[in-house]
Amino acid sequence: MKLSAIFFCALVVAAPLAYAQVAPEPIISGFARTLPVTARNGMVVSQDEQASRIGAEIMKAGGNAVDAAVATGFALAVTLPRAGNLGGGGFMLVHLAQQKKTIAIDYRETAPAAARRDMFLDANGKFAPEKSQSSGLAVGTPGTVAGLTLALERYGSGKFTLAQLLAPAIALARDGVAVEGDLATSLGEIRARIARYPSSRAIFMRGDAPLRAGDRLVQSDLAASLERIARDGAAGFYQGETAQKIVASVQGAGGAMTLEDLRDYRAVAREPVRGSYRGHDIVSMPPPSSGGVHVIQILNMLEGWPLGELGQNSAATLHLMAEAMKRAYADREIWLGDPDFVKVPVAGLTSKTYAAQLRKTISADRATPSRDISAGDPAPYESDQTTHYSVVDKDGNAVANTYTLNFSYGLGLVADGTGILLNNELDDFAAIEGAANAFGLRGGGANAPEPRKRPLSSMSPTMVFRNGELEIVTGTPGGSRIITTVLQIISNMIDHGMNAAEASEAVRVHHQLYPEELRVERGLSIDTIRLLEAKGHVVRQQRAMGSAQTIHRADGVLYGAADTRQAGTAAVGY
Ligand code: GLY
Repeated sequence: MKLSAIFFCALVVAAPLAYAQVAPEPIISGFARTLPVTARNGMVVSQDEQASRIGAEIMKAGGNAVDAAVATGFALAVTLPRAGNLGGGGFMLVHLAQQKKTIAIDYRETAPAAARRDMFLDANGKFAPEKSQSSGLAVGTPGTVAGLTLALERYGSGKFTLAQLLAPAIALARDGVAVEGDLATSLGEIRARIARYPSSRAIFMRGDAPLRAGDRLVQSDLAASLERIARDGAAGFYQGETAQKIVASVQGAGGAMTLEDLRDYRAVAREPVRGSYRGHDIVSMPPPSSGGVHVIQILNMLEGWPLGELGQNSAATLHLMAEAMKRAYADREIWLGDPDFVKVPVAGLTSKTYAAQLRKTISADRATPSRDISAGDPAPYESDQTTHYSVVDKDGNAVANTYTLNFSYGLGLVADGTGILLNNELDDFAAIEGAANAFGLRGGGANAPEPRKRPLSSMSPTMVFRNGELEIVTGTPGGSRIITTVLQIISNMIDHGMNAAEASEAVRVHHQLYPEELRVERGLSIDTIRLLEAKGHVVRQQRAMGSAQTIHRADGVLYGAADTRQAGTAAVGY
């Protein structure tokens, strides 16, 4: 047995609180296998080059990271319609360098006031996924416009009006964008979803076929909707013509949203969830996202093992990661929900002591069958107390923003006369105990549908700090795989000294307890897969996971990595 293996076994038995591994600094050049984009003044990393460029231009013209994030967010609603949105919701972390303060903006969609606990069940009391995924009942009251305008009002530089930040998006919607790359691919993949609705066909299809490479996507109604926001602020979306048209379309599709639901919607500024990993401070999204809680919980478990020595993507490391992931997802199922409706034991779930207890249940040699894992009891450790983009400006202010329509193009329904695609986010509720949503995630009462409640999310916009200085801004789309992708970006950089580009390129794995399988991307060696199988894992190779958009900041220089798993992503700096 190799010395490191003996040492490792001893560590498993002793289950220390944290293994004092010396964290290597990410390699910027020299031995690096692939390099990030560098900039000194400001950078936007997103899933669309035009949107990244628009944000970078705003900073070049004197705006701060929040101004840039608002312009990028509205631009993505035009250029990346499968996820960028006005008709969905999300989560934003804002870091203000001078105040040394980080704020979490929750602009998650809410269930309408008419929501009922059994709203997604059939007449026999069985889960009816067509209701939560493919009908107007699936549409949550959108939060994006409230979230972006709140961010601008409270944390923008004051140098730009909302109308100025909307102008590039309005021009792109009115003049049209070229259909190519990811836009062409994604439209080709969701034909059935948009073909059901004449209002969507008129925009995204020509005849019976979706627009394809070489076509132009012109969104005149969307331009007019954006102009109403430019003129009237958030009220230009939540009241008046746009609101009336959204409600008419949702109700026409069998949904229950009313004008009052839209009028009453509010984005909420919350305290982020905080943790640490090998001397770095982790700041992430609190409930109603499960993202930050579980990124920190898994890191806490992993901190007890010397992952740097065990090796990046070695079977030993991946086994421990998978086991930690499984335990976190067991807790997610039971404990997580909208904190305005249920008490979520955040402090307990993110406590190092609780993680040490969970770590004791992990064997270095054998995968624990999923049926033998259930939620733990974090209460004793509780004290009283689906596109992402990252932005950093020259002063070290930063934004990590993840927002979504849930499925690609959401419900597929454009609210007639608005150009606005509507979400099907309410599928993220647990329709009934034991039933899995579209991402295979299960849940219970804490995440049951209720009037005006926010469904649980996995979105994990995250920032990492060292000695109070901003170091990493990251996040990703990917449904249930968001949490584990963000986790692996952080571990790759902190445990293995990878730069942002290498950390992003590396093969990803994912385990969420159920289904009982360790998903791996292509590129993991067959030897590693055999070793994992020998430990009892059911390994399944699957399509690429996530699209992480990461900025690493070191010595005042910005290093950006736009995930290469999808076409069109770009890190743009100046
Ligand atoms: N709709 C996916 C999520 O919020 O996690």
